[in-house]
Amino acid sequence: MRFGSFSYWLKDGLDKGYAVAQININNLEFVQAIIEAAEEERAPVILGASEGALKYMGLDYAVAIAQTAAERSSVPVMLHLDHGPNLDWVLKAIRAGFSSVMIDASRLPLEENIALTKQVVDLCHSLDIEVEAELGRITGTDDDLTIDERMATLCRPEDAERFVGETHVDALAAAIGSAHGHYKGKPQLDFNRLSAIRKATGIPLVLHGGSGIPDDDVREAIGLGIAKMNINTDNQEVFTEKVREVLQENPKLYDPRKYLGPGREAIKAMVKKKLALTGSVNRV
Ligand code: 13P
Repeated sequence: MRFGSFSYWLKDGLDKGYAVAQININNLEFVQAIIEAAEEERAPVILGASEGALKYMGLDYAVAIAQTAAERSSVPVMLHLDHGPNLDWVLKAIRAGFSSVMIDASRLPLEENIALTKQVVDLCHSLDIEVEAELGRITGTDDDLTIDERMATLCRPEDAERFVGETHVDALAAAIGSAHGHYKGKPQLDFNRLSAIRKATGIPLVLHGGSGIPDDDVREAIGLGIAKMNINTDNQEVFTEKVREVLQENPKLYDPRKYLGPGREAIKAMVKKKLALTGSVNRV
């Protein structure tokens, strides 16, 4: 099977009330674990690759591994550029074979975010590539922002309406209070804002920073229009914990397969939990 269709599966999620999981990849073990979990759970799945992960894995290696995974997989697999920072990275990803991209120009003022996102959408749509963009600013949990500063990062529904109308983007990562990394306290998702953005835009919305959000909040967000949820930190954490545990128990171990294998199993178990949480099990 070639890569699946990003917009088909996000729309399916929106229509049927589930979210497609974007699970970020960091190495071969992540890809294998994600695909095994998705196949066993009969779930469509998006492999997300950030600029940092692609620099680490090598763009061509990452695409080759993902393509092999998609071809062998019996469930739809998409390969999505996560937080593409500029046109250069978007072009690199498309040329290498990605099936969809995210342009993240959320650091720019609204007008400039619209202009760059529109440029990317026009180009990508002419190549049948679908685009996610970000509005408001989804911060890191380590960014030490005051309450006022954090409020100022949230997406305004009226901006979202204009943004989607002018850019024709396919999916929107609207900042509603989630963040990347480990949350210090309970994350405060702004559900009223999410509903208003959903009404104002009508397109599939994306929840970033999926690790550490309480399950009930995730379900509520999906009920309000989240059609894709991104997860990375939870998998990184269980992988590293398992590797650390195996090495601590066997300090003389030197064969990487003996600790990476258990690490891979730990990711697979976590991905299965996330697929159940997003409601994407048995959708294929
Ligand atoms: P977490 O690492 O917090 O799960 O966020 C992942 C993400 O949103 C990738 O874009």
